[in-house]
Amino acid sequence: MDLKPGRTLAPHEIAELLHEARARTLLLVGTLADEELRRQHDPLMSPIVWDLGHIAHFEEVWLLENLEGAGGSEGLRGMYDPFRNPRSVRDQLPLPGAVEVRKFLGGIRRRVLDSLHRVAAESRGTLLEESFVYRMVLQHEYQHDETILQTLQLKRGDPYVAPRAVEPPEAPSERPEPGTMVRFPGGTVDVGTDDRSQSYDNERPAHQVELAPFWIDAAPVTNGEFRAFVEDGGYTRPELWQEEGFRWIREEGIGSPKEWKEAGSGWTERFFDRIRPLDPERPVCHVCYWEADAYARWAGKRLPTEFEWEAAATWDPLAARRHLYPWGDGPATPERANVDALAFDTAPVWSYPSNVSPVGCYGMIGDVWEWTSSDFHGYPGYRTFPYPEYSEVFFGDEYKVLRGGSFATRTGAIRATFRNWDYPIRRQIFAGFRCARDEVEGV
Ligand code: AVJ
Ligand code: FE
Repeated sequence: MDLKPGRTLAPHEIAELLHEARARTLLLVGTLADEELRRQHDPLMSPIVWDLGHIAHFEEVWLLENLEGAGGSEGLRGMYDPFRNPRSVRDQLPLPGAVEVRKFLGGIRRRVLDSLHRVAAESRGTLLEESFVYRMVLQHEYQHDETILQTLQLKRGDPYVAPRAVEPPEAPSERPEPGTMVRFPGGTVDVGTDDRSQSYDNERPAHQVELAPFWIDAAPVTNGEFRAFVEDGGYTRPELWQEEGFRWIREEGIGSPKEWKEAGSGWTERFFDRIRPLDPERPVCHVCYWEADAYARWAGKRLPTEFEWEAAATWDPLAARRHLYPWGDGPATPERANVDALAFDTAPVWSYPSNVSPVGCYGMIGDVWEWTSSDFHGYPGYRTFPYPEYSEVFFGDEYKVLRGGSFATRTGAIRATFRNWDYPIRRQIFAGFRCARDEVEGV
């Protein structure tokens, strides 16, 4: 199916995409017992059954209520309102069981499929134009799939048995030296987008920014590199940390990435039910912004801004133009990058030879979200669309922007302009980072 941004989707294409999204969601949770679905596994996360009900409810609000004026839902006022019911209290709600929530999902879906021939073909109004509202509902489900996987990584009781279906390719023998940085020449570059078919309001509008020349890591920081920081006492040296970050890791007793364990002869790392010796070639994962920032200082570097990141991922300085993705304009696929979850693990950083940008950055898309030094703000000329609770209410200096998607991100929910955000203390995200540094005059 040609999903090029900008295309208006035919009703049968929408139906197929909705079906595929749901099949994936149900694959992820299919083996979980009722108790595992309803339990609050971590105060940061919802009971999984809440995510499932909320997926159905979001679809109801946008595709039935807003498009057809069909009543019957509680709107965003009810149990699935994320603002009324913060994650930490969601296990006290009158949550449905596994059977009930599937009925809810299926019931809403049947009504949506019934509506497609009446509604989708009309393509009228800003919600329907270029099929935006359908891509928004699809991306909402994709994003909650990743949220569910974060919950399953934090799961209490028996580990989640990941339905692994994909093995990352063997890393090619020809690859850059570990620690390689590439130069970005600076200049005026295009960032953001004017696309209205899939992009969120926070990615718009396209605009230009002026960048000084800088250097940026050709790959995300690896476990091997991060281990050197740990073994050099990185977590115990306050001069490497911002004060607030150091206070936080002290309070929390943090001394290594979240899923590392010291195991006699060395470290191990865990993804779901798989525990393996720490692979020095895979990107470090489950670190917070403060840890990324401290590592960068230790390495004599800094984190890139989100625009440096975007330029390094997409800008071709020779052609003075950019592409939608590091490899060109084709969408993210599991062949091009470690995305779409079914590997349920990170991959060695050079594993995907086509996942390289014009200036030579590997792995910008997939594997791990990458922390940037940027706060989450609206771009100049930002306009809320279609609702303020997606982006606008989070703008400010409390959140840091992450870019690029992780192994757990569905292909339809990642592109070079996509902006994720979280608090600088958060480690449940599948997040790592790469470093940058200023060009030193005369070198
Ligand atoms: C973009 C991942 C920060 O999970 O809070 C899901 C995505 N928004 N439902 C989040 C989202 C509404 C959002 N993030
Ligand atoms: Fe949501």
